[in-house]
Amino acid sequence: MSARVIYPGSFDPMTMGHLDIAGRALEIFGELKISVVRRSRKELLFDVKEREELARLSVAEAGMEEKVVVESFEGLLVDYMRRTGARIFVRGLRATSDFEYEFQMELMNRRLAPEITGVYLMPSESNIYLSSTVVKEIASYGGELSTLVMPAVESALRERFGEE
Ligand code: PNS
Repeated sequence: MSARVIYPGSFDPMTMGHLDIAGRALEIFGELKISVVRRSRKELLFDVKEREELARLSVAEAGMEEKVVVESFEGLLVDYMRRTGARIFVRGLRATSDFEYEFQMELMNRRLAPEITGVYLMPSESNIYLSSTVVKEIASYGGELSTLVMPAVESALRERFGEE
């Protein structure tokens, strides 16, 4: 599959919120490539190979593996998209706090590569306040994770925080 629509992100780790957005993107585009960025502005808990593998396992556990491929990329999003022939990327928009960052990124990406367009999707209400950051904090205190991440991610987090 050579998906022309990509869903880029840090996915540190993949949450139900990411899967919610991936499911909505599939409804529109029929196939999707989840692209895990190697480096991030944020401090990462999992390295790129781990994040890629956890995304792949989450996608399989959610039953989306036939329509979704997962890979990693390095460098600018627009360069990667040009290299792979992708023209559309998908991003999730939760509360208004996401808007400023996404708006800035969209306009800068458009300036660098006018042929590339971002499509912004909103998750269901239950996932509005869900983020990888919150998931990691809950995991670090041994909190309940089963409605926030898929089982593969839950056990990776438990292992990382020394509970397994
Ligand atoms: O999940 P995140 O951390 O919000 O994802 C951010 C991501 C990966 C989409 C963004 O950081 C990105 O595109 N990184 C690659 C480098 C790049 O192109 N930066 C944007 C310049 S406008």
